[in-house]
Amino acid sequence: MRTGADVTSTALFLRNLTLTRFRSYTAARIALERQPVVITGANGAGKTNLLEAVSMLSPGRGLRSAAGEDLVATGAEAWHVAALFDSPDGPHEIATGGGAGGRQVTIDGKAAPQVALANVLRVLWLTPAMDRLWVAAPSERRRFLDRITMSLIPDHAEAATGYERSLRERNRLIRDQITDRAWFAALEARMGETGAILIANRRRAVAQLAAAQVEGPFPVADLALETDAPDTAADLASALAEARPRDIAAGRTLAGPHRDDLGVRYGAKDMPARLASTGEQKALILSIVLANARAVAASSGAAPILLLDEVAAHLDEERRGALFEAVLTLGAQAWMTGTETALFASLGERAQWLEIREGERGSEIRARNHPGRASVGRAKGICPSGTGASEMTEKANPDAVPPGTPGSGENICSRCGGTGKVDGKDCPECGGTGKVVTPIGGA
Ligand SMILES: Nc1ncnc2c1ncn2[C@@H]1O[C@H](COP(=O)(O)OP(=O)(O)O)[C@@H](O)[C@H]1O
Ligand SMILES: [Mg+2]
Repeated sequence: MRTGADVTSTALFLRNLTLTRFRSYTAARIALERQPVVITGANGAGKTNLLEAVSMLSPGRGLRSAAGEDLVATGAEAWHVAALFDSPDGPHEIATGGGAGGRQVTIDGKAAPQVALANVLRVLWLTPAMDRLWVAAPSERRRFLDRITMSLIPDHAEAATGYERSLRERNRLIRDQITDRAWFAALEARMGETGAILIANRRRAVAQLAAAQVEGPFPVADLALETDAPDTAADLASALAEARPRDIAAGRTLAGPHRDDLGVRYGAKDMPARLASTGEQKALILSIVLANARAVAASSGAAPILLLDEVAAHLDEERRGALFEAVLTLGAQAWMTGTETALFASLGERAQWLEIREGERGSEIRARNHPGRASVGRAKGICPSGTGASEMTEKANPDAVPPGTPGSGENICSRCGGTGKVDGKDCPECGGTGKVVTPIGGA
């Protein structure tokens, strides 16, 4: 395995993304390049919603841990998010959505379980809500660690689900005062097997994270798995058996890997993260997420997609520059939001720029020029389905590519040659319109 500091030349990145009746979006479609994505817009425009849509391409409840019904646009019955992405083994398509019947996933057109998403696409995120991770309950840090672990060891999700199933069953026996020894022993044996895998995976992930941290503008975090559980399957099973009377008295399983915590110390000051200043805590978590991205790149050979919500606004100029460099060095498609374009100005044409506004039919996404340039756009093409390409530009935005700009405007979609169809389905590039808006400098 390569070391964490390696620069990777490959990355997972979205080529297009379609949102349908997802939160504030009625219908939106964007085409993307591998570059970092800068997303600006006013408060409430729909920036976090867009990142959340991308996070739904991974297993779980996304970057807001939302209940399924919250994802559905008000008044609609089901949401849908689809994406075409590039990976070292070629392009893949993920489609997912949900309504009353729960969440469905297809990978390359075939129905798949949610956990299978972890094997094809890796998405890491950092949101403002995660700032309180160091003072939150251990369960939140454990979930954070499990997501990290899953990004490095995709099978982790399966072990975690297996352990939790047996744990729930054991807790049910305790609650229902069932004293069947053989039943307890069978469950404890299974908890031993899956639990030992959980602990081993978490230890491996913590070690990989530690190796992927680099001295620099972001603080090094000293990480440790804090567990009261023995390491081997047999020892864990017998510890559980021994603890049975105590657990029965308490009404639940008191010890085991379901109680693990991620211990984090602020390296430079050798102080627990929870005692660090607010700024130091923010820097620590960013440092861990970047280390996670490097570790994923090193172990899987491709940089993950990064979703960094409102991260740039909290960094001073030097650290902001360092963040951009870290992202560019990784080669990751990092989606970064903020209310001000000035925050990202130094990225210039090294990023693709999107602007989100609240429109009559919900949030609308437009390609925009980076602030340093007056008339040259970078985005490849934006075609919110259901709206004509001519609606793509708005006078209120001085940086938008105006209709009629030489070399820009409505062009024939290169993917489908203007037919709007690929393999009998709506063209994923233009959404079936056959046209894309291509500013100068675009595809
Ligand atoms: N299920 C939903 N249906 C319609 N609108 C929603 C839904 N959930 C959230 N919203 C709206 O989305 C907006 C917030 O979008 P968000 O992406 O968080 O904004 P920001 O650009 O500040 O990150 C709010 O106006 C909120 O009312
Ligand atoms: Mg937001």
